[in-house]
Amino acid sequence: MKAFSKSLGQVIAVIGAQWGDEGKGKVTDILTEHFDVIARACGGANAGHTIVVNGQKHVFHLLPSGCLHENKPVILGSGMVIHLPTLLEEIETLKTAGIDIIPRLHISHAAHIVFDFHKDIDAAMEEDRKKEGEGIGTTKRGIGPAYTDKAVRSGVRMESLGTNMTAILEKKAKCNDRVFGIHTDVALEIENLETANHAIGCCVKDTVTLIHELHSSGKTIIVEGAQASMLDIDHGTYPFVTSSSTTATGALQGLGLPPSALKSCIGVAKAYCTRVGDGPFETELEGEIGNALREKGGEYGATTGRPRRCGWLNIPDLIRSAQINGFTHWNITKLDVLDDLHEIPVGIGDGKVKTLPGWQSSTVGMTNYSDLPENAKGYIQFIEEQTKVPVGLIGTGQGREEMIVKH
Ligand code: GDP
Ligand code: IMO
Ligand code: MG
Repeated sequence: MKAFSKSLGQVIAVIGAQWGDEGKGKVTDILTEHFDVIARACGGANAGHTIVVNGQKHVFHLLPSGCLHENKPVILGSGMVIHLPTLLEEIETLKTAGIDIIPRLHISHAAHIVFDFHKDIDAAMEEDRKKEGEGIGTTKRGIGPAYTDKAVRSGVRMESLGTNMTAILEKKAKCNDRVFGIHTDVALEIENLETANHAIGCCVKDTVTLIHELHSSGKTIIVEGAQASMLDIDHGTYPFVTSSSTTATGALQGLGLPPSALKSCIGVAKAYCTRVGDGPFETELEGEIGNALREKGGEYGATTGRPRRCGWLNIPDLIRSAQINGFTHWNITKLDVLDDLHEIPVGIGDGKVKTLPGWQSSTVGMTNYSDLPENAKGYIQFIEEQTKVPVGLIGTGQGREEMIVKH
């Protein structure tokens, strides 16, 4: 893993190629051991990244998944939208695991704050859409409304922590009442801001200057993407998308790094496909096989607990994701979940399916490519041939160690 990591260059991004939950957290955690700086660039607590270390599960929503590796600076970029009580909770959870992140946490002064009222608006809008049969299935974490405020230039940025926000919030409360019929608890919002300022006010800064200083001094940087390419506001299955730019370019934008800085981009894709929330899903499986994949793969959302819709891999989606992100390698995850299948259909476009032979033996925990059954190698090679992107990493289990480096 060390040699592979070193071959990737100074700045790399880990980007989801499907509809999220591909296993970005696990690979970020593994690679972080060999990088100096860890960053999240966009999105908010709609993300749920699960890693399993020594049998213990850790779930990250706002902090990048590399945080368990001590002494490495952690940056939350300006493209993010941050719900402060959620961030404080995550910091506390890490503290109980023996990790004090605050001395090495750097939060962009330009990241936007997600208020509780954004979550209420998100839920109310989703209810209204559902009544019309047009639900998106958002995570109700306030993401869309927070990015709306950002885009119409009425958002509140992290730099406002420590200032008197009463007048602004009272104005917002009136607006929320008038437009959405939503009550805003101004006193609670102010209390949340004060608590956050006390705990993490010291972490808020110009992270663009910081990341460029680190970059100039030769530090290596790993950027953990959130959500995924087909949830991207421009390139995803609109309107069934999130409200941020989830691609590699979005990640650079969200950190203030130039496109030329990115040396490698790892596209993370499951060996099959899942989607949580509404929207099109060409290779979706309903019934028994879909249910079996869900149970074997533990396909329940890390943020909302919702069952994920399951289906086969769809090659045209991988090709599109590779195009827009410039993937230099794939990390194909959860290969082990397909172990029992006699044959494995794969979408190849226009509703057509190619059926590949299964391997019907366990790949769980494998770490050497040469140990994989021939048909599993064939499956990996098929992905490489179809997408013209080499597979660098293959996931064979939840645990940190359960990953093959394919040379
Ligand atoms: P993320 O949002 O992209 O970080 O992915 P999630 O953490 O939401 O969902 C991926 C799930 O699959 C998590 O529960 C991981 O522990 C698990 N996982 C990741 N890679 C593998 C793998 O190779 N095999 C198996 N069986 N599980 C994996
Ligand atoms: P990670 O980083 C899977 C989906 C929601 C919904 C749509 C819009 O763990 O891969 P939003 O709350 O963002 O307005 O919801 O996007 N969604 C995700 N699905 N993984 C995620 O993050 C997601 N973040 C948002 O389910 O369909
Ligand atoms: Mg997830």
